[in-house]
Amino acid sequence: MGDSDKKLSWAVGKKTVMCVGATSIDFVSTTKTFPEPNKLEKAVGGYWIRGGNASNNCTVLSNLGVKVEFFGMLSSLCMFQVLVDDLKARGIIVENCPTCDQPAPFASVILTKSTKTRNIISCNSNFPHVDINDFRKLDLSKYGWIHMRALYFENTMAMIKELAAYNANREDKIVVSVEFDHNLDDMWPLMDYCDYAIFSKQLAHPNGWLSIEDACMQLDERLGMRFGLNLKRPCLIVLWGDQGAGFMDLAGHYTHSKPHKPRRIVDALGAGDTFVGAFIYALYIRERSLPVAVDFGNRMASYKCSKNGYDHIANILLPPVL
Ligand code: FRU
Repeated sequence: MGDSDKKLSWAVGKKTVMCVGATSIDFVSTTKTFPEPNKLEKAVGGYWIRGGNASNNCTVLSNLGVKVEFFGMLSSLCMFQVLVDDLKARGIIVENCPTCDQPAPFASVILTKSTKTRNIISCNSNFPHVDINDFRKLDLSKYGWIHMRALYFENTMAMIKELAAYNANREDKIVVSVEFDHNLDDMWPLMDYCDYAIFSKQLAHPNGWLSIEDACMQLDERLGMRFGLNLKRPCLIVLWGDQGAGFMDLAGHYTHSKPHKPRRIVDALGAGDTFVGAFIYALYIRERSLPVAVDFGNRMASYKCSKNGYDHIANILLPPVL
């Protein structure tokens, strides 16, 4: 049995995982120090890669041997076929993605060695997002888990409501997770429809969260202020970079999940996306508990930072060399 057969065995019998969001090109440069204005900075290294949150979640999941589908707008322009080709080459399903003839989003990323920081300048030039009409064409019976990034509120809300209507009164419900990383107030109503809500540390400053625990407590309080019948409550997971993550279960119990310090930090781009992919893998494919899945997500996010890209992540599935 080859390594790839071994990897796939865990996912046998599981329905497809779908990640809804965007795919882009990330141009990554590593510099010794952060560039000064009006000076030419020579990179000490660099690469370019298919990026975008949902697209990265798919890469991680496919590297872990999961049958995964990307659902997002694709560009039909020739120069962006690299994105489609890379998705397809990795076995990531794209057959339900609509296309348009606008240039795909891209991001310029600077990894600064001296500060161990990463800066992202993202440019999406109003590239369209998938909408309810695209979503209605899907055969939802194929999916076991659908992950969405909280983007374009109207579109995402319509899709998640459609999902809730599909799930109503079904035994084999599709698990729904949503990642929140900007405009929390605008995106908040999506909370009523998901099983897992994942929050990025980027939300801390605009929302006045002082710590992971404070974030969970404030979110808990806000959830308690809702009125209505049958409002769903999700498990809350708050990511906090080098301090690990925190989570609050359905009963409102808070737990801190310790960080795993990377041996060396080479490239933190997509560490949060890696957490999400690994978390879904542990919960859904490996059927582990919430604390184990959050810890696995932390571990993989930390391991991701030790190298460029996402391909080393699958090493975790190889038997240890004795
Ligand atoms: C990393 C990332 C990049 C992308 C940017 C978009 O988390 O997904 O691949 O360019 O974020 O927000």
